[in-house]
Amino acid sequence: MKTRAALLRTSPVGRPYAHTRPLSIETIELDPPGPDELLVKIGAAGLCHSDLSVINGDRPRPVPMVLGHEAAGTVEAVGSNVHDLAAGDRVVMSFMPSCGHCLPCAEGRPALCLPGAEANGKGTLLSGERRLHCQDVPVNHHLGVSGFADYSVVSRQSVVKIEADLPLVEAALFGCAVLTGVGAIVNTCRVRPGESVAVVGLGGVGLAALLGAVAAGAERIVAVDLAEDKLKLALSLGATDTVLAADSDAAEKIRLATRGGVDHAVEAAGSAKAFELAYHITRRGGLTVSAGLAHPSSQISIPAVSLVAEERSMRGSYMGSCVPARDIPRFIALYQRGRLPVDRLLSSTGPLEEINEAFDLLDQGRVIRHVIEF
Ligand SMILES: NC(=O)c1ccc[n+]([C@@H]2O[C@H](COP(=O)([O-])OP(=O)(O)OC[C@H]3O[C@@H](n4cnc5c(N)ncnc54)[C@H](O)[C@@H]3O)[C@@H](O)[C@H]2O)c1
Ligand SMILES: [Zn+2]
Ligand SMILES: [Zn+2]
Repeated sequence: MKTRAALLRTSPVGRPYAHTRPLSIETIELDPPGPDELLVKIGAAGLCHSDLSVINGDRPRPVPMVLGHEAAGTVEAVGSNVHDLAAGDRVVMSFMPSCGHCLPCAEGRPALCLPGAEANGKGTLLSGERRLHCQDVPVNHHLGVSGFADYSVVSRQSVVKIEADLPLVEAALFGCAVLTGVGAIVNTCRVRPGESVAVVGLGGVGLAALLGAVAAGAERIVAVDLAEDKLKLALSLGATDTVLAADSDAAEKIRLATRGGVDHAVEAAGSAKAFELAYHITRRGGLTVSAGLAHPSSQISIPAVSLVAEERSMRGSYMGSCVPARDIPRFIALYQRGRLPVDRLLSSTGPLEEINEAFDLLDQGRVIRHVIEF
Protein backbone atom coordinates (compact mmCIF):
# COMPACT_ATOMS: atom_id res chain seq x y z
CA MET A 1 0.00 0.00 0.00
CA LYS A 2 0.98 3.65 -0.09
CA THR A 3 1.34 5.98 2.86
CA ARG A 4 2.13 9.62 3.35
CA ALA A 5 5.24 10.03 5.50
CA ALA A 6 7.72 12.68 6.68
CA LEU A 7 10.99 11.57 5.13
CA LEU A 8 14.44 12.71 6.27
CA ARG A 9 16.75 12.32 3.25
CA THR A 10 20.00 13.76 4.63
CA SER A 11 21.45 14.58 8.04
CA PRO A 12 22.62 16.90 9.49
CA VAL A 13 20.40 19.71 8.25
CA GLY A 14 20.81 23.33 9.42
CA ARG A 15 18.10 25.61 10.80
CA PRO A 16 15.66 27.29 10.49
CA TYR A 17 13.79 24.19 9.40
CA ALA A 18 10.91 26.23 7.97
CA HIS A 19 13.44 27.19 5.25
CA THR A 20 15.76 24.16 5.02
CA ARG A 21 12.79 21.73 5.19
CA PRO A 22 14.65 18.60 6.40
CA LEU A 23 11.44 16.56 6.34
CA SER A 24 9.60 16.18 3.05
CA ILE A 25 6.06 14.89 3.02
CA GLU A 26 6.06 12.13 0.41
CA THR A 27 3.86 9.23 -0.60
CA ILE A 28 5.93 6.06 -0.25
CA GLU A 29 5.44 2.28 -0.32
CA LEU A 30 4.53 0.37 2.83
CA ASP A 31 4.78 -3.44 2.66
CA PRO A 32 2.24 -5.62 4.50
CA PRO A 33 3.16 -6.67 8.05
CA GLY A 34 5.33 -9.77 8.52
CA PRO A 35 4.12 -12.65 10.75
CA ASP A 36 5.06 -10.90 14.03
CA GLU A 37 4.10 -7.40 12.91
CA LEU A 38 1.09 -5.09 12.69
CA LEU A 39 -0.20 -2.39 10.41
CA VAL A 40 -1.12 0.64 12.52
CA LYS A 41 -3.08 3.72 11.45
CA ILE A 42 -1.31 6.52 13.28
CA GLY A 43 -3.60 8.85 15.22
CA ALA A 44 -1.04 11.14 16.85
CA ALA A 45 2.73 11.52 17.03
CA GLY A 46 4.70 13.87 19.29
CA LEU A 47 7.92 15.69 18.45
CA CYS A 48 10.74 14.68 20.83
CA HIS A 49 14.22 16.13 21.05
CA SER A 50 15.57 12.71 19.97
CA ASP A 51 13.91 13.24 16.55
CA LEU A 52 15.46 16.71 16.43
CA SER A 53 18.86 15.17 17.27
CA VAL A 54 18.62 12.93 14.19
CA ILE A 55 17.89 16.02 12.05
CA ASN A 56 20.70 18.15 13.52
CA GLY A 57 23.24 15.31 13.60
CA ASP A 58 23.57 14.96 17.38
CA ARG A 59 22.25 11.42 17.04
CA PRO A 60 23.47 9.97 13.76
CA ARG A 61 21.05 7.50 12.13
CA PRO A 62 20.90 5.96 8.64
CA VAL A 63 18.94 7.91 6.03
CA PRO A 64 16.53 8.02 4.31
CA MET A 65 14.40 7.56 7.41
CA VAL A 66 10.82 8.22 8.45
CA LEU A 67 11.17 9.89 11.86
CA GLY A 68 8.79 9.87 14.83
CA HIS A 69 8.92 7.52 17.83
CA GLU A 70 6.32 8.90 20.27
CA ALA A 71 3.07 7.77 18.71
CA ALA A 72 -0.31 6.16 19.24
CA GLY A 73 -2.75 4.69 16.78
CA THR A 74 -5.27 2.03 15.85
CA VAL A 75 -4.43 -1.48 14.65
CA GLU A 76 -5.58 -2.03 11.05
CA ALA A 77 -4.24 -5.53 10.40
CA VAL A 78 -2.13 -8.13 12.20
CA GLY A 79 0.47 -10.66 10.99
CA SER A 80 -0.20 -14.41 11.08
CA ASN A 81 1.59 -14.96 14.43
CA VAL A 82 -0.18 -12.13 16.26
CA HIS A 83 -3.12 -13.53 18.21
CA ASP A 84 -3.45 -11.12 21.13
CA LEU A 85 -4.28 -7.99 19.12
CA ALA A 86 -6.91 -7.34 16.48
CA ALA A 87 -8.01 -4.64 14.07
CA GLY A 88 -9.58 -1.76 15.99
CA ASP A 89 -7.35 -2.11 19.08
CA ARG A 90 -5.65 1.07 20.20
CA VAL A 91 -1.93 1.01 20.88
CA VAL A 92 0.85 3.21 22.18
CA MET A 93 4.22 2.64 20.49
CA SER A 94 7.29 1.92 22.54
CA PHE A 95 10.59 3.02 21.00
CA MET A 96 12.60 -0.04 21.96
CA PRO A 97 11.21 -3.36 20.73
CA SER A 98 12.12 -6.14 23.17
CA CYS A 99 12.74 -9.70 22.01
CA GLY A 100 11.89 -11.18 25.43
CA HIS A 101 14.77 -13.69 25.30
CA CYS A 102 18.15 -11.92 25.42
CA LEU A 103 19.95 -11.41 28.75
CA PRO A 104 18.66 -7.86 29.45
CA CYS A 105 15.12 -8.96 28.53
CA ALA A 106 15.46 -12.04 30.76
CA GLU A 107 16.61 -9.75 33.59
CA GLY A 108 13.48 -7.61 33.22
CA ARG A 109 15.29 -4.76 31.49
CA PRO A 110 13.62 -4.62 28.05
CA ALA A 111 14.90 -1.08 27.43
CA LEU A 112 18.32 -2.69 26.94
CA CYS A 113 17.20 -5.49 24.59
CA LEU A 114 20.18 -6.51 22.43
CA PRO A 115 18.36 -7.40 19.16
CA GLY A 116 16.11 -4.37 19.76
CA ALA A 117 19.11 -2.05 20.02
CA GLU A 118 20.68 -3.60 16.92
CA ALA A 119 17.48 -3.13 14.90
CA ASN A 120 17.09 0.46 16.12
CA GLY A 121 20.70 1.26 15.20
CA LYS A 122 20.29 -0.16 11.70
CA GLY A 123 16.86 1.38 11.07
CA THR A 124 15.02 -1.94 10.72
CA LEU A 125 12.12 -3.53 12.58
CA LEU A 126 12.90 -6.22 15.18
CA SER A 127 12.56 -8.82 12.39
CA GLY A 128 15.53 -7.21 10.64
CA GLU A 129 13.25 -6.13 7.78
CA ARG A 130 12.37 -2.74 6.38
CA ARG A 131 8.75 -2.37 5.30
CA LEU A 132 9.19 1.13 3.87
CA HIS A 133 10.41 1.86 0.33
CA CYS A 134 10.58 4.86 -1.94
CA GLN A 135 10.92 3.91 -5.62
CA ASP A 136 12.73 0.66 -4.74
CA VAL A 137 15.10 2.39 -2.31
CA PRO A 138 14.69 0.93 1.20
CA VAL A 139 13.66 3.53 3.78
CA ASN A 140 14.76 3.19 7.42
CA HIS A 141 12.40 2.96 10.36
CA HIS A 142 13.03 5.25 13.34
CA LEU A 143 13.29 3.25 16.56
CA GLY A 144 10.87 0.69 15.13
CA VAL A 145 8.05 3.26 15.12
CA SER A 146 8.28 5.85 12.29
CA GLY A 147 5.22 7.62 13.58
CA PHE A 148 5.31 10.69 11.32
CA ALA A 149 3.20 8.87 8.71
CA ASP A 150 -0.45 8.04 8.12
CA TYR A 151 0.34 4.33 8.48
CA SER A 152 3.20 2.34 9.93
CA VAL A 153 4.17 -1.33 10.09
CA VAL A 154 5.69 -2.19 13.45
CA SER A 155 6.76 -5.23 15.43
CA ARG A 156 4.27 -6.67 17.92
CA GLN A 157 7.04 -6.01 20.44
CA SER A 158 6.87 -2.26 19.67
CA VAL A 159 3.31 -1.69 20.89
CA VAL A 160 1.31 -1.74 24.12
CA LYS A 161 -2.47 -2.05 23.97
CA ILE A 162 -4.44 0.69 25.74
CA GLU A 163 -8.10 1.18 26.61
CA ALA A 164 -10.22 2.90 23.97
CA ASP A 165 -11.23 5.85 26.17
CA LEU A 166 -7.94 7.75 26.03
CA PRO A 167 -7.66 10.33 23.19
CA LEU A 168 -4.74 9.38 20.93
CA VAL A 169 -3.17 12.85 21.16
CA GLU A 170 -2.77 12.30 24.90
CA ALA A 171 -1.89 8.62 24.51
CA ALA A 172 1.07 9.43 22.26
CA LEU A 173 2.84 11.31 25.08
CA PHE A 174 3.09 8.08 27.08
CA GLY A 175 5.26 6.50 24.38
CA CYS A 176 8.32 8.61 25.08
CA ALA A 177 8.13 11.75 27.26
CA VAL A 178 6.08 10.16 30.04
CA LEU A 179 7.70 6.72 29.87
CA THR A 180 11.17 8.28 29.99
CA GLY A 181 10.56 11.05 32.52
CA VAL A 182 8.25 9.34 35.00
CA GLY A 183 10.20 6.09 34.61
CA ALA A 184 13.46 7.87 35.50
CA ILE A 185 11.87 8.89 38.81
CA VAL A 186 10.00 5.72 39.78
CA ASN A 187 12.19 3.03 38.20
CA THR A 188 15.71 4.42 37.92
CA CYS A 189 15.76 6.61 41.05
CA ARG A 190 13.00 4.79 42.97
CA VAL A 191 12.10 8.04 44.71
CA ARG A 192 10.37 7.55 48.06
CA PRO A 193 7.90 9.91 49.77
CA GLY A 194 9.68 12.76 51.52
CA GLU A 195 12.86 12.61 49.45
CA SER A 196 14.26 15.52 47.47
CA VAL A 197 14.62 15.61 43.68
CA ALA A 198 16.17 18.00 41.17
CA VAL A 199 15.44 17.96 37.45
CA VAL A 200 17.92 19.69 35.12
CA GLY A 201 16.38 20.35 31.69
CA LEU A 202 12.65 21.03 31.56
CA GLY A 203 11.41 19.82 28.18
CA GLY A 204 8.85 17.04 27.73
CA VAL A 205 11.10 14.49 29.42
CA GLY A 206 12.22 16.70 32.32
CA LEU A 207 8.73 18.02 33.07
CA ALA A 208 7.35 14.47 32.98
CA ALA A 209 10.06 13.60 35.52
CA LEU A 210 8.90 16.54 37.63
CA LEU A 211 5.30 15.26 37.50
CA GLY A 212 6.63 11.83 38.44
CA ALA A 213 8.42 13.32 41.44
CA VAL A 214 5.19 15.02 42.57
CA ALA A 215 3.26 11.74 42.16
CA ALA A 216 5.99 9.84 44.06
CA GLY A 217 5.60 12.21 47.02
CA ALA A 218 8.94 14.00 46.78
CA GLU A 219 9.04 16.75 49.38
CA ARG A 220 11.46 19.14 47.71
CA ILE A 221 11.50 19.41 43.91
CA VAL A 222 14.09 21.71 42.35
CA ALA A 223 13.58 22.58 38.68
CA VAL A 224 16.53 23.87 36.62
CA ASP A 225 16.67 25.13 33.05
CA LEU A 226 18.34 27.78 30.90
CA ALA A 227 14.96 29.31 30.03
CA GLU A 228 12.95 31.46 32.44
CA ASP A 229 9.55 30.42 30.99
CA LYS A 230 10.31 26.73 31.61
CA LEU A 231 10.91 27.57 35.28
CA LYS A 232 7.53 29.28 35.51
CA LEU A 233 5.78 26.28 34.03
CA ALA A 234 7.69 23.97 36.40
CA LEU A 235 6.45 25.97 39.40
CA SER A 236 2.87 25.58 38.22
CA LEU A 237 3.41 21.81 37.89
CA GLY A 238 4.65 21.36 41.46
CA ALA A 239 8.30 22.42 41.63
CA THR A 240 9.14 23.87 45.04
CA ASP A 241 12.28 25.72 43.88
CA THR A 242 13.45 26.97 40.49
CA VAL A 243 16.95 27.99 39.46
CA LEU A 244 18.36 29.30 36.18
CA ALA A 245 21.13 26.97 34.99
CA ALA A 246 23.07 29.92 33.60
CA ASP A 247 23.46 31.53 37.06
CA SER A 248 27.13 31.31 37.97
CA ASP A 249 26.14 30.28 41.50
CA ALA A 250 23.30 27.91 40.51
CA ALA A 251 24.88 24.86 42.17
CA GLU A 252 25.72 26.76 45.35
CA LYS A 253 22.18 28.18 45.60
CA ILE A 254 20.65 24.72 45.31
CA ARG A 255 23.07 23.13 47.77
CA LEU A 256 22.29 25.89 50.27
CA ALA A 257 18.54 25.61 49.79
CA THR A 258 18.60 21.83 50.14
CA ARG A 259 21.20 21.62 52.94
CA GLY A 260 23.91 20.00 50.92
CA GLY A 261 22.10 18.83 47.80
CA VAL A 262 19.19 16.63 46.73
CA ASP A 263 18.75 12.88 47.16
CA HIS A 264 18.22 12.40 43.41
CA ALA A 265 19.18 14.70 40.54
CA VAL A 266 17.97 13.85 37.03
CA GLU A 267 19.57 15.40 33.96
CA ALA A 268 17.08 15.61 31.07
CA ALA A 269 18.81 18.14 28.82
CA GLY A 270 21.12 16.03 26.65
CA SER A 271 24.17 18.04 27.65
CA ALA A 272 27.31 17.16 29.59
CA LYS A 273 27.18 20.57 31.28
CA ALA A 274 23.69 19.84 32.55
CA PHE A 275 24.83 16.47 33.90
CA GLU A 276 27.78 18.08 35.68
CA LEU A 277 25.41 20.58 37.30
CA ALA A 278 23.11 17.71 38.31
CA TYR A 279 26.10 15.95 39.88
CA HIS A 280 27.13 19.05 41.83
CA ILE A 281 23.66 19.49 43.32
CA THR A 282 23.37 15.85 44.45
CA ARG A 283 23.99 15.30 48.17
CA ARG A 284 26.68 13.08 49.67
CA GLY A 285 25.47 9.51 49.20
CA GLY A 286 22.95 10.63 46.59
CA LEU A 287 22.15 9.49 43.07
CA THR A 288 22.68 11.43 39.83
CA VAL A 289 20.80 10.10 36.81
CA SER A 290 21.38 10.95 33.16
CA ALA A 291 18.30 10.65 30.94
CA GLY A 292 19.31 13.12 28.21
CA LEU A 293 21.08 11.90 25.10
CA ALA A 294 24.23 13.94 24.47
CA HIS A 295 26.26 13.94 21.23
CA PRO A 296 28.35 10.71 20.98
CA SER A 297 31.63 12.66 21.31
CA SER A 298 30.50 14.53 24.43
CA GLN A 299 32.43 13.75 27.66
CA ILE A 300 31.58 14.49 31.28
CA SER A 301 34.04 15.68 33.87
CA ILE A 302 33.50 15.23 37.60
CA PRO A 303 35.89 15.13 40.56
CA ALA A 304 36.78 11.42 40.74
CA VAL A 305 37.40 11.36 44.48
CA SER A 306 33.88 12.57 45.31
CA LEU A 307 32.44 9.34 43.96
CA VAL A 308 34.31 7.40 46.64
CA ALA A 309 34.64 9.78 49.55
CA GLU A 310 30.99 10.84 49.26
CA GLU A 311 29.68 7.41 48.19
CA ARG A 312 27.90 8.90 45.21
CA SER A 313 26.06 6.92 42.53
CA MET A 314 25.58 7.73 38.87
CA ARG A 315 23.16 5.91 36.58
CA GLY A 316 21.93 6.16 33.05
CA SER A 317 18.21 5.85 32.41
CA TYR A 318 17.10 4.65 28.98
CA MET A 319 13.35 4.68 28.37
CA GLY A 320 12.97 5.38 32.10
CA SER A 321 14.26 1.86 32.88
CA CYS A 322 10.66 0.91 32.07
CA VAL A 323 8.89 -2.29 31.18
CA PRO A 324 6.48 -0.68 28.70
CA ALA A 325 3.76 -3.35 28.96
CA ARG A 326 3.72 -2.82 32.74
CA ASP A 327 4.42 0.91 33.00
CA ILE A 328 2.41 2.48 30.15
CA PRO A 329 -0.95 1.20 31.56
CA ARG A 330 0.15 2.20 35.10
CA PHE A 331 1.08 5.73 34.08
CA ILE A 332 -2.13 6.08 32.05
CA ALA A 333 -4.16 4.98 35.10
CA LEU A 334 -2.41 7.61 37.24
CA TYR A 335 -3.17 10.22 34.57
CA GLN A 336 -6.82 9.25 34.47
CA ARG A 337 -7.06 9.57 38.25
CA GLY A 338 -5.56 13.06 38.08
CA ARG A 339 -2.29 12.05 39.76
CA LEU A 340 -0.09 12.66 36.71
CA PRO A 341 -1.42 15.62 34.68
CA VAL A 342 0.63 14.93 31.57
CA ASP A 343 -1.84 16.83 29.38
CA ARG A 344 -0.07 19.92 30.79
CA LEU A 345 2.93 18.94 28.63
CA LEU A 346 0.87 19.23 25.44
CA SER A 347 1.64 22.68 24.01
CA SER A 348 0.04 22.45 20.57
CA THR A 349 -1.13 20.16 17.79
CA GLY A 350 -0.86 20.52 14.03
CA PRO A 351 -0.94 18.71 10.69
CA LEU A 352 1.90 16.64 9.19
CA GLU A 353 2.46 19.32 6.52
CA GLU A 354 3.65 21.79 9.18
CA ILE A 355 6.17 19.45 10.81
CA ASN A 356 9.26 21.46 9.81
CA GLU A 357 7.83 24.62 11.39
CA ALA A 358 6.99 22.56 14.48
CA PHE A 359 10.61 21.36 14.76
CA ASP A 360 11.68 25.03 14.81
CA LEU A 361 9.37 25.53 17.79
CA LEU A 362 10.92 22.56 19.64
CA ASP A 363 14.44 23.67 18.71
CA GLN A 364 13.75 27.17 20.07
CA GLY A 365 12.24 25.78 23.28
CA ARG A 366 8.87 27.34 22.44
CA VAL A 367 6.87 24.14 22.94
CA ILE A 368 7.04 21.32 25.46
CA ARG A 369 5.30 18.73 23.30
CA HIS A 370 3.86 19.53 19.88
CA VAL A 371 1.80 16.61 18.58
CA ILE A 372 1.03 15.88 14.93
CA GLU A 373 -2.63 14.96 14.64
CA PHE A 374 -3.67 12.65 11.80
N1 LIG B 1 16.71 8.39 27.96
C1 LIG B 1 15.80 8.24 27.03
O1 LIG B 1 15.30 7.14 26.81
C2 LIG B 1 15.34 9.44 26.25
C3 LIG B 1 14.07 9.45 25.68
C4 LIG B 1 13.64 10.61 25.06
C5 LIG B 1 14.46 11.72 24.98
N2 LIG B 1 15.71 11.65 25.50
C6 LIG B 1 16.61 12.80 25.48
O2 LIG B 1 16.26 13.62 26.59
C7 LIG B 1 16.62 14.96 26.32
C8 LIG B 1 15.43 15.86 26.56
O3 LIG B 1 14.42 15.60 25.60
P1 LIG B 1 13.17 16.60 25.45
O4 LIG B 1 12.36 16.09 24.32
O5 LIG B 1 12.58 16.84 26.77
O6 LIG B 1 13.97 17.92 24.96
P2 LIG B 1 13.54 19.46 24.96
O7 LIG B 1 14.32 20.09 23.88
O8 LIG B 1 12.06 19.60 24.94
O9 LIG B 1 14.03 19.97 26.39
C9 LIG B 1 15.37 20.10 26.75
C10 LIG B 1 15.45 21.18 27.81
O10 LIG B 1 16.78 21.19 28.34
C11 LIG B 1 17.13 22.55 28.55
N3 LIG B 1 18.60 22.63 28.60
C12 LIG B 1 19.49 22.53 27.60
N4 LIG B 1 20.74 22.67 28.06
C13 LIG B 1 20.64 22.85 29.40
C14 LIG B 1 21.57 23.05 30.44
N5 LIG B 1 22.89 23.09 30.20
N6 LIG B 1 21.11 23.19 31.69
C15 LIG B 1 19.78 23.16 31.97
N7 LIG B 1 18.85 22.98 31.01
C16 LIG B 1 19.28 22.83 29.75
C17 LIG B 1 16.49 23.28 27.39
O11 LIG B 1 16.36 24.67 27.66
C18 LIG B 1 15.14 22.57 27.29
O12 LIG B 1 14.17 23.17 28.10
C19 LIG B 1 17.12 14.97 24.87
O13 LIG B 1 18.52 14.87 24.89
C20 LIG B 1 16.52 13.71 24.30
O14 LIG B 1 17.24 13.21 23.18
C21 LIG B 1 16.15 10.54 26.15
ZN1 LIG C 1 11.72 10.53 22.54
ZN1 LIG D 1 15.78 -8.79 24.18
